[in-house]
Amino acid sequence: MTNLAIAANGLHKSYGDKTVLDGIDLRVPEGTVFSLLGPNGAGKTTAVKILSTLIPPGPGSGQIRIGGHDLATAPQAVRASIGVTGQFSAVDGLITGEENMLLMADLHRLPKTEGRRVAAELLERFDLTDAAKKPASAYSGGMKRRLDIAMTLVGDPRIIFLDEPTTGLDPRSRHTMWGIIRELVTGGVTVFLTTQYLEEADQLADRIAVLNNGRIAAEGTADELKRLVPGGHVRLRFTDPTAYRSAASALHDATTDDEALALQILSDGSQRDLRTILDRLDTAGIQADELTVHTPDLDDVFFALTGPTVPAQTKETTR
Ligand SMILES: Nc1ncnc2c1ncn2[C@@H]1O[C@H](COP(=O)(O)OP(=O)(O)OP(=O)(O)O)[C@@H](O)[C@H]1O
Ligand SMILES: [Mg+2]
Repeated sequence: MTNLAIAANGLHKSYGDKTVLDGIDLRVPEGTVFSLLGPNGAGKTTAVKILSTLIPPGPGSGQIRIGGHDLATAPQAVRASIGVTGQFSAVDGLITGEENMLLMADLHRLPKTEGRRVAAELLERFDLTDAAKKPASAYSGGMKRRLDIAMTLVGDPRIIFLDEPTTGLDPRSRHTMWGIIRELVTGGVTVFLTTQYLEEADQLADRIAVLNNGRIAAEGTADELKRLVPGGHVRLRFTDPTAYRSAASALHDATTDDEALALQILSDGSQRDLRTILDRLDTAGIQADELTVHTPDLDDVFFALTGPTVPAQTKETTR
């Protein structure tokens, strides 16, 4: 059995009479990426802050162990084994990137030469060497975020918490960040990640938990979560309204979209299922102009599991 980097039982937290976390359990094996998803205000940052000792867990919470240390009795040992990149930047804009790094080295009580070596190495790794002597206020959002994470890594933590590390980054910077996170995991680091980007969780996370109304609404691998929601379908598009109408009357179970001249048939996307659908089309003499297969993605999962105000099906699906 693998060791757990993070093990939290019955995590509670309330603010006044508002319950934010209503007894959640979290288990993250060493060297894996765990992603906590949830709508705005779900309690992701609250969970990160509790697990990283920044705020105390609420009364009634069970045991929390981080890196093998009990958070209640050994918070210093927990702090020594973790790094935290908060949702909002910890970068000081008034000083240079290099000075920010050296400040972190001092906080970790690294000897001066060692601190300079680590700072230079990380600045290089995060492609910030050229900008090292510039004030951080002059950095772009992506550069600041890279500096943020570089600062988190100064103490060589084995467990890192990344609260929305790529929010606001352009696609290229986001991919760079994903590469950095993957490298960390290859090096054995455990990553606890919150994100608003479902594709990010899909790309990076070994396991994903969806937080909603204070509880974990679902947890599993990206594939396991996708299997929880219907959303897979075959879409047939027509250009000729007459062909569309005769197809619609031949396929009773299809959902119609008169405006787009499109039909949707529920499907798990398997070869067998597709063959059945194609046979039915042939038998009915239906010639669609376009046939596309849609498998459910994490967006479908997210909408299905969080918030009743959001329709379960979005995008072009109009079932
Ligand atoms: N110090 C505080 N005092 C009172 N309420 C708080 C405090 N911190 C957080 N909250 C409330 O707790 C809830 C959860 O907040 P949290 O920041 O954990 O959400 P989140 O999932 O990180 O959201 P986002 O996606 O917007 O970052 C929110 O309703 C928030 O208003
Ligand atoms: Mg947050």
